[in-house]
Amino acid sequence: MKFAQILAPIAMAAMAVASTSAIAAVDADAAAALFKKNDCSKCHSIDKAKKGPALKKIAANHKGKADAQAAIIKAITTGPKVKMDDGSQEDHKIIDTKDAAAQKNLADWILAQ
Ligand code: HEC
Repeated sequence: MKFAQILAPIAMAAMAVASTSAIAAVDADAAAALFKKNDCSKCHSIDKAKKGPALKKIAANHKGKADAQAAIIKAITTGPKVKMDDGSQEDHKIIDTKDAAAQKNLADWILAQ
């Protein structure tokens, strides 16, 4: 069997996965799992302020803005200085995945709270 014959089905399967995730609705389970795994829940809950604002508040702040998803992704990938509830400043946590689809899914999930 030629190498290309082995690779072609793998490439096709990978493309199928990529195209379904691009059009899929928010995968809430995946987003919540990523959120938990990254200890985001240490500072954010869905509806209560902790060290950081509640996700509902974040969603409300960005509601109706065209660049909402990009703003969220920037906040969780570039480590901007943020003010904690006690007034101290820290670099914001950077998410541990470079997978753009996973980052977008997480951003959409936060914005849907
Ligand atoms: C050590 C505490 C802490 C951790 C851990 C943390 N955050 Fe935050 N986060 C904050 C604070 C504080 C702010 C508020 C910044 C402000 O209002 O200036 C914030 C803001 C945000 C925002 C809003 C950005 C905006 O522009 O409105 C998002 C989205 C966010 N965090 C997501 C996450 C995600 C996802 C994780 C996990 C990867 C995470 N945070 C982990 C403290 C934290």
